[in-house]
Amino acid sequence: ANLPKDRLRLAIQKSGRLSTDSLDLLKACGIKVKSPKEKLLLHADNFPLDLLFVRDDDIPQLVMDGVCDLGIVGQNVLEESALERGTTSAYVVERTLDFGGCRLAIALPEERPYTGLKDLAGLRIATSYPQLTKRYFAQQGVPAEIVTLSGSVEIAPRLGLADVICDLVSSGSTLEANKLRAVETIFKSTAALIRNARPLNPEKAHAFDIVLRRLDGVQKAAG
Ligand code: PRP
Ligand code: ZN
Ligand code: MG
Repeated sequence: ANLPKDRLRLAIQKSGRLSTDSLDLLKACGIKVKSPKEKLLLHADNFPLDLLFVRDDDIPQLVMDGVCDLGIVGQNVLEESALERGTTSAYVVERTLDFGGCRLAIALPEERPYTGLKDLAGLRIATSYPQLTKRYFAQQGVPAEIVTLSGSVEIAPRLGLADVICDLVSSGSTLEANKLRAVETIFKSTAALIRNARPLNPEKAHAFDIVLRRLDGVQKAAG
């Protein structure tokens, strides 16, 4: 389908921790979409906005490249993507949101002793966030070997792929199920509404002002 020039394009996560909350937020802002997720592109019925359902990891790039005007994405994914790109100038964080809370943490097999970061020197660390992990270890002055995996990071120690992991922790149940324990937090995150850094055309800018006003009302009401 064509994406008309006078409608805002917003990228949200197709399925995952942010999906339901992202859709609920739009609903609370009075933006109606029906039968979500069956199509990858949906037009709001009552507002000049189109929704694109994608993998969360793709959202920063879609917004930075201007394929979408807006995106709702975790600050963890955003920061990783910006580090990889080497610049934060292609997007603007318009609002931080009150959902999607999580932390990026270093976790070890439960039985592995730990007294401090120096215990990790020279170990292999599996992660889907190589940039954030690399930056943290560099800042701490601890040498480490990063093993990049796009998913199922928590299984890496048992497979012998890595000694420890650096992954997102939300409820903690994934770590618990895999007999891992978090020892250091390297990044704290919530969801954020981001916009491509280039100015919106007047029609879109007007629509976006309305979105922001409603969003601020919703977030203020939620406290
Ligand atoms: C993260 C992480 C774990 C899970 C941890 O994945 O990779 O799989 O969440 O959550 P828990 O502490 O509540 O068990 P995410 O939701 O970011 O999905 P993705 O890796 O598929 O993008
Ligand atoms: Zn993801
Ligand atoms: Mg995951």
